[in-house]
Amino acid sequence: MQPTLAKWPWFSQATGTSSIDEEARHDLPMNPILKLGVNIDHVATLRQARYRTMPDAPNAEPSVLQAAEEAIAGGADSLTLHLRADRRHIQDADLILVMKSVRIPINMEMGNTPEILEIALGLRPAYVCLVPENREEVTTEGGLHVSAQEDSLRDTVQRLQSNGTSVSMFIDPDLEQVRASARIGARMIELHTGTFANRQGAERGRETRRLSEAAKLGHSLGLQINAGHGLTTANLPDLFSVPHLSELNIGHHLICRSVFIGLRSAVAEMRQVMNGYTS
Ligand code: PXP
Repeated sequence: MQPTLAKWPWFSQATGTSSIDEEARHDLPMNPILKLGVNIDHVATLRQARYRTMPDAPNAEPSVLQAAEEAIAGGADSLTLHLRADRRHIQDADLILVMKSVRIPINMEMGNTPEILEIALGLRPAYVCLVPENREEVTTEGGLHVSAQEDSLRDTVQRLQSNGTSVSMFIDPDLEQVRASARIGARMIELHTGTFANRQGAERGRETRRLSEAAKLGHSLGLQINAGHGLTTANLPDLFSVPHLSELNIGHHLICRSVFIGLRSAVAEMRQVMNGYTS
């Protein structure tokens, strides 16, 4: 069944048109090697904090669609929205509205559950990133243990990819998980950079080497290599020794920074730092 906005009348009032000047966007200095996916979940987190129980309120804000448009104006190459089973931030209607309204690829982040899979099959986003989901977690805490659930993940990957969606596996920089991701036919992996981001000095150096080994192996197996979690303009340069990176997915830092300088500028600032990546 095709998902629609009809169930969510307050969303159907939105115009669904983009105010972004596509020409201006393409004037921005872009790194042709490394793309930026902007995760806008926390814009919905803020709206839900006040309006979870009154989704029809005419003054419900901030707008997830407006955030999507601002991220695009700042130079986002794709947008990530995580439709969690507990719907703690992004709602089905946010995903549908953003997909209808913007022209850049949508990366739908999701757990491997039948309910969310059916939604992804109906919406056909450009990308899906499969993540572990745990009710107690504050954010996605670790990578998927792909090798422990190859059969069910292979089935999900095949259903999505034969439906026109490229699938990425969010994994720790663990060589066995890289191999398992390739075995089940995923086209991409996203390497979890949370440990990298939370360490300093020699410990960060060690984690960077793990990320490099995982990236090299993944690349040799034909996988596209993405990375994300905990990345900031301050720690990103330390990641530049990791080869073969295609796309970074960044959320929390950009939304935090946007409180002070606006989302468009926060995304443009990140793009500027990303231009230092050459491997
Ligand atoms: N990639 C994945 C798979 C994630 O789960 C998240 C967090 O939602 C991110 C990237 C972005 O992480 P952060 O919000 O720390 O930038």
